[in-house]
Amino acid sequence: MKAIVVRGEKGRPELVWGEAADVACGPEEVVVAVRATAVNRADLLQARGLYPPPPGASDIIGLEVAGEIAALGEGVVGWEVGDRVCALLPGGGYAELTAVPYQMLVKIPDNWSFAQAAAFPEVWYTAYLNLFGEGQLKAGEVALIHAGGSGVGTAAVQLAVLAGAQAFVTAGTEEKLRACRELGATLAVNYKTADFLPAVLAATNNRGVDVVLDPVGADYLMKNLRALAMNGRLVSIGLMSGGQTEINLGLLLGKRLRLIGSTLRNRPLAEKVAIRNGFEQRFWPFFASGQLQPIIDTTFPISQAQAAHEYVAADKNIGKVVLLL
Ligand SMILES: NC(=O)c1ccc[n+]([C@@H]2O[C@H](COP(=O)([O-])OP(=O)(O)OC[C@H]3O[C@@H](n4cnc5c(N)ncnc54)[C@H](OP(=O)(O)O)[C@@H]3O)[C@@H](O)[C@H]2O)c1
Repeated sequence: MKAIVVRGEKGRPELVWGEAADVACGPEEVVVAVRATAVNRADLLQARGLYPPPPGASDIIGLEVAGEIAALGEGVVGWEVGDRVCALLPGGGYAELTAVPYQMLVKIPDNWSFAQAAAFPEVWYTAYLNLFGEGQLKAGEVALIHAGGSGVGTAAVQLAVLAGAQAFVTAGTEEKLRACRELGATLAVNYKTADFLPAVLAATNNRGVDVVLDPVGADYLMKNLRALAMNGRLVSIGLMSGGQTEINLGLLLGKRLRLIGSTLRNRPLAEKVAIRNGFEQRFWPFFASGQLQPIIDTTFPISQAQAAHEYVAADKNIGKVVLLL
């Protein structure tokens, strides 16, 4: 089959639409003929050799797909060849065919394109898991969402607001801040021109926020802790500014804070199935009603995956960048 293969030197990858080994279908898996996949920040790291797939996962890049079921394992129940589906993957999305455990499949709504469906799994599950599972965000609370214009950020703002919480965001351009406000954010700070900490404290009468969803890491750690209210939760989901820094543990103790690290990709299948099912039960109907929407910035043909990665690396996207097959 055809797939994106990584050529070039380590650290300077070239993504080429080339030949890869065919996928095998396990007894509880389906093979999906991929019609769209989407770019995640993690893909950029994997292409540079900095984020290897978890054991047992495909070494082809790609954490999500949308397409049609092309083959069924003998233990699969409830699905037919030809069904339009999307799914979260631990790898293998940038390819013509990919194998998916059937418990992870999601039926694509009739009024969604494959591009919309490919923009769904990774960032919505990440936002859901970390706001409500790890972060325990509740109605009436406030969440501070860094990188508000990112794929994860645009999903997290919508989920927080729908759950009855307030969403505060930071982002690096006025266009991203405007998009976040349109999605329901009530405070939007340009971190390139202002310090988010005084803005957050002023907006909460010095109380602070209940949850911080943080993909930035080292540069923000102390300010995040200062921005949290008593009993606040800092959920660390990325290290875009680095992972090494100092911490004043006095802040954790005094405010009874919780600092939580979280990844989605390396969780066991049973946990991912629980996330899939939990999301479906609580939030899936709101896509049909239009209260939630996957945000797509741009689409590229998969043969231009290299250009798509460069676009994302340059921080140009608001929401998702989708690759079409
Ligand atoms: N732990 C998990 O399970 C998990 C799962 C999915 C994603 N993630 C993480 O969540 C983050 C968002 O992922 P995504 O795919 O949605 O990203 P994305 O769409 O590529 O957006 C990332 C944005 O982050 C901002 N940014 C980049 N470097 C920054 C820095 N040093 N300081 C502050 N902001 C910076 C940029 O926007 P500005 O213009 O605003 O600077 C950039 O556009 C990534 O860190 C990713 O690794 C974690």
